[in-house]
Amino acid sequence: MNILATGGAGYVGSTVLRQLLKQGHNCWAYDNLSKGFTEAVPDGHLIEGDLADYDKLVSVMKEKKIDAIMHFAASIAVGESCQMPREYYRNNVVNSLTLLDSMQDAGVGKIVFSSTAAVFAPAKEGASLNEESPKDPDSPYAFSKYAIERMIQHFSKAYGIGFTILRYFNACGADPTGQYGEAHEPETHLIPLVLQVPLGQRESISVFGNDYPTEDGTCVRDYIHVQDLADAHIRAVENMEVGKGNFYNIGTGKGNSVMEVIRAAEEVVGQQIPYVISGRRDGDTAVLVASSDKLKSELGWVPKYTDIKDIIADAWRWHKDHPNGY
Ligand SMILES: NC(=O)c1ccc[n+]([C@@H]2O[C@H](COP(=O)([O-])OP(=O)(O)OC[C@H]3O[C@@H](n4cnc5c(N)ncnc54)[C@H](O)[C@@H]3O)[C@@H](O)[C@H]2O)c1
Repeated sequence: MNILATGGAGYVGSTVLRQLLKQGHNCWAYDNLSKGFTEAVPDGHLIEGDLADYDKLVSVMKEKKIDAIMHFAASIAVGESCQMPREYYRNNVVNSLTLLDSMQDAGVGKIVFSSTAAVFAPAKEGASLNEESPKDPDSPYAFSKYAIERMIQHFSKAYGIGFTILRYFNACGADPTGQYGEAHEPETHLIPLVLQVPLGQRESISVFGNDYPTEDGTCVRDYIHVQDLADAHIRAVENMEVGKGNFYNIGTGKGNSVMEVIRAAEEVVGQQIPYVISGRRDGDTAVLVASSDKLKSELGWVPKYTDIKDIIADAWRWHKDHPNGY
């Protein structure tokens, strides 16, 4: 297939793009490089462009005879979105409308969209979240993602596009070769922040709250390796039909607490990682764990990385050789 990956120079998008190329698809990243990296994209597969540029999107889709879009491009930091809702709604919602418009006008009928576990309301104690779990997108970031989900559904109903919406839990890990990995600025994700301590970039890691109703009192999240995410995207795009839509949650189904991540990182790097317990953060919920049964049964997806230590080992291989990113 011919696939255009918006945000394909970013962390998740570039991982999926490289995997698509390996599996024989034609794929190009369409990225404005605001947060992405040319080094993450194999030569000849990067098209520099902005999501807001309708004319460029239409001409690229026509010229490359695109069959499907993978839509990764977004502003992604929850906290920042509360400070800058204008930028988040514009870049995520308005620019996604431009993308959907340009797909219509270029005759592209399929889209895979990167959504997030943040669209869900907190789960009842101990429960994992399936696709039908109640939604309550709280932050501007989460609400922008939910709005795009609904926009895609409405476009599908009215114009017959095919879609797959993948709701990621906590994306993490790096390419097993150590050549590519996670580079966000600012970094807000737990595993790279923890690894900044052994890299000498921070003295300790903050643990926001140890009085949650979890085994050790710290928040539990579902850490899903970026290679397993890539596998799900490829299954999604290969199985999608014009006019039909689907939603899948992607996680391992296994939660790890913040303290478990710190302890696992200590084992991987072979040194102690000092931490400081500070107060709870607004908006954090005790447990966010996916049920990915639907993805497994319908698309035959099985996560290869289910041990947090293996995920952190891949992340560490990348971070220790690229302490300042690409
Ligand atoms: N990383 C996670 O844990 C996680 C979890 C849930 C959902 N997601 C979603 O997955 C997607 C990818 O996340 P990521 O971690 O790879 O983020 P990232 O910041 O590494 O990648 C996003 C890419 O989009 C590009 N971009 C942003 N605005 C653009 C615009 N207007 N025009 C063109 N390019 C633009 C950036 O330059 C960057 O390369 C996002 O949509 C995010 O909401 C990520």
